[in-house]
Amino acid sequence: MTLKHYLFTPIPNPSPQGGGEHAEACAGVTRRRVLTAAAGLAGLAASSTAVYAGAIEPQGLVVTRYAPAPANWPAGRKLTITVIADLHAGGPDMLLPHVREVVDKANSLHSDLIVLLGDFTAWYRFPWTRVPDPLWAAELKRLDAPLGVWAILGNHDWWHDLHGVRSALAGVGIPVMQNDAVLLGAPGQKFWLAGLGDQLAHPLGHGRFRGVDDLPGTMAKITSTDPVLLLVHEPDIFPRVPARVALTLAGHTHGGQIRLPVIWPFFVPSKYGARYAYGHVVEEGRQLIVSGGLGTSIIPARLGVPPEILHVTLGG
Ligand SMILES: [Fe+2]
Repeated sequence: MTLKHYLFTPIPNPSPQGGGEHAEACAGVTRRRVLTAAAGLAGLAASSTAVYAGAIEPQGLVVTRYAPAPANWPAGRKLTITVIADLHAGGPDMLLPHVREVVDKANSLHSDLIVLLGDFTAWYRFPWTRVPDPLWAAELKRLDAPLGVWAILGNHDWWHDLHGVRSALAGVGIPVMQNDAVLLGAPGQKFWLAGLGDQLAHPLGHGRFRGVDDLPGTMAKITSTDPVLLLVHEPDIFPRVPARVALTLAGHTHGGQIRLPVIWPFFVPSKYGARYAYGHVVEEGRQLIVSGGLGTSIIPARLGVPPEILHVTLGG
């Protein structure tokens, strides 16, 4: 019998004579039908949600726009930035056509600067479709911005494919910043772009890591009073970022990736839980934007955090 049949088939009226036992029997049948229908609906909702999270949402693409106003970014020094984080190229959800779509969308935003925040390739504990490094890199080569395309590496790059990712990016002329800073922009519009080394680069076991990040060393390379934009893969560095930095851009968390009510903050890959999981964070005047990223890790599913490209406007 179908769920629809259960819900909509009328229950026969009890006989007007000798109705006591019959009425109780009918009440029992009604309760069973309601409980069965409720269980069926819950199962249907769960399976529909699973299909959506596994097959539909990861294939999406949205542009999320921010226009923060950091106190130490001069008014009138307008800069637009496109942010691509956690591409995780590979199957099942970030195959080459999806990577191509990301690049096309990013170029359509016509930003002054494009930054890539690490974790370029997928890695799962089950067989999946790989996108060879030279192929996703060839797509990224099409990215175009007047102030250039700049990258940092993420933890998955270090853990699984460091040589491949470095070689692929070098092969298409995209510079990788590791505890480095460059001065960009026209005279009177200059700003520092700084990129931090990954904070989880070397797993030590038992949930401990040795990073290759050097925040003081990075800041020491900033030699003028021009404003600073800092790229980091993991947002957990943010409490240590000095007020000198106008804006920190981060990825890594995937915004929680599966945002089930109540429980999702416990699965955010951050020692701060939900604090830096997603979006625009302002603490003591310091500003951070965390991208929900594009691909997936651990499981190839997203729920409530569709793949996104950020478009950030400063000084506008
Ligand atoms: Fe990551």
